Amino acid sequence: MSVAKKEYKKITTNSVQEMKRNGEKISMLTAYDYTLAKIVDSAGVDIILVGDSASNVMAGHETTLPITLDEMIYHAASVVRAIDRCLVVVDLPFGTYQGDTKNALKSAIRIMKETGGHAVKLEGGVEIIDSVKRILTAGIPVMGHLGLTPQSIYKFGTYTVRAKEEEEANKLLSDAIALEKAGCFAIVLEKIPRALAKKVAETISIPVIGIGAGPDVDGQVLVLHDMLGMTHEFNPRFLRRYLNLFEDINGAVQSYVSDVKSRDFPNDKESY
Ligand code: KIV
Repeated sequence: MSVAKKEYKKITTNSVQEMKRNGEKISMLTAYDYTLAKIVDSAGVDIILVGDSASNVMAGHETTLPITLDEMIYHAASVVRAIDRCLVVVDLPFGTYQGDTKNALKSAIRIMKETGGHAVKLEGGVEIIDSVKRILTAGIPVMGHLGLTPQSIYKFGTYTVRAKEEEEANKLLSDAIALEKAGCFAIVLEKIPRALAKKVAETISIPVIGIGAGPDVDGQVLVLHDMLGMTHEFNPRFLRRYLNLFEDINGAVQSYVSDVKSRDFPNDKESY
């Protein structure tokens, strides 16, 4: 079904909720730096997520756990300087919101004050609901994140599909309802069965944005470096690659090296 697209000059949390009501799918991509954020924003994406996947993609860590609040602030401030239209959501990194609502609020306030971002994202359900509520008291919009939550990788042990069993699926659905009730403006569902994602999207009235959650949700998110083919060794089933930039950039750099070595670069026209 194709749905007429309303033009939005600026995307807000209200705009994405309106998109869900109107049946318009929401597009979301990650970005962590000024230059790529400018391209993503000008291409018309609705939400930029400054994800803690920066820990893997930008810093080369094996998990998202090591990235710090200061590092997230650096990435998010760079992204915000580039954008004209997108809603910018910033991940609260591991250790900055769990188990201590005061610390959660302090971390979220630092993100909003020091980056100019528009909302924060937290991983988890009822376990972190008090932190969600406390952040919301300051008027800071919160996006939830359920299913595969990479900050809990050492609890899960693997990055496989979550909530395949009934008990975990029921908990995920009740967590989604709790996050909506607490006041989240949207949630991300990562790597869960398509049928469960559909049920969540039909049950709650806030937007559900999926990654590896199938097509029956309100929007989709991918990690930019994955969909551009820069991280060529990461090949999950849910990933659609739109470019093969690893190969393209590698080829360009090889040509440059060869031109320098052969004294072809710079030529007369490239000299003063
Ligand atoms: O950090 C991230 O990039 C994310 C997405 C995978 C949703 O949380």
